[in-house]
Amino acid sequence: MLNINAVEVDDLVVIRGKNVVLPGLTTDVKTGSVTGLLGPSGCGKTTLIRAIVGIQIIKSGRITVLDGPAGTAVNRSRVGYVTQGNSVYPDLTVRQNLAYFAALAGSDSSAITEALGNVGLTSDADSLTGNLSGGQWTRVSLAASLLADPDLHLLDEPTVGLDPVLRRDLWQLFAALAADGKTLLVSSHVMDEAARCDRVLLMREGKLVADATPDELRAQTGEDDLEKAFLVLAERQMA
Ligand SMILES: Nc1ncnc2c1ncn2[C@@H]1O[C@H](COP(=O)(O)OP(=O)(O)O)[C@@H](O)[C@H]1O
Ligand SMILES: [Mg+2]
Repeated sequence: MLNINAVEVDDLVVIRGKNVVLPGLTTDVKTGSVTGLLGPSGCGKTTLIRAIVGIQIIKSGRITVLDGPAGTAVNRSRVGYVTQGNSVYPDLTVRQNLAYFAALAGSDSSAITEALGNVGLTSDADSLTGNLSGGQWTRVSLAASLLADPDLHLLDEPTVGLDPVLRRDLWQLFAALAADGKTLLVSSHVMDEAARCDRVLLMREGKLVADATPDELRAQTGEDDLEKAFLVLAERQMA
């Protein structure tokens, strides 16, 4: 039977340097859906994703990912992580990068063609990755992750700096993956991206200020605009 939750986080405490970045976070990510992890820069999105991947030292708490604790070997091929930084090679062409990651994942060349199409890089396939713009570079990382066809996609700000058409296309791709049973946790500091998610986790200073669907957020705050809804919730948290 499918787990209802692909990820469960229970009272997670993370300290980085002298900062208590996550002071005790409890949440989950539902299987087969797109969950948005939204919040301003520095609120702890990357730290939470790193903890779910299993590469972040945690102070206390428990994280279950798919069938086991975060970071277990069995999960490695089932979890895709696209970092905010660049994880592909600048001195290879886009296609060469994808061929390399396809070989690691045991995927065939049709997966490369499909991933290129999915991220809109078909016509740039033979460009040197190092010569691409930041947004294109991110899409190469995303394609490299897609071609491994993981069950759980952890995507850290994959749409930053992309033009609106491409952004919309990527959110449509995320929805299609979820409809196919995959689970996606997608972070962003751009509040209007919340509207694209099945469910939104709004974070502020390491704490969740909301966990709701976009429509519930609008209803709870009386604001249609999700950026304004976030402000209302942030003010309530401070009060
Ligand atoms: N290596 C580090 N050492 C100490 N503090 C860090 C380190 N990395 C991040 N932080 C702090 O952790 C907090 C959360 O960072 P991060 O998870 O990257 O936030 P976000 O991804 O939402 O922008 C920030 O206050 C940041 O300054
Ligand atoms: Mg970040």
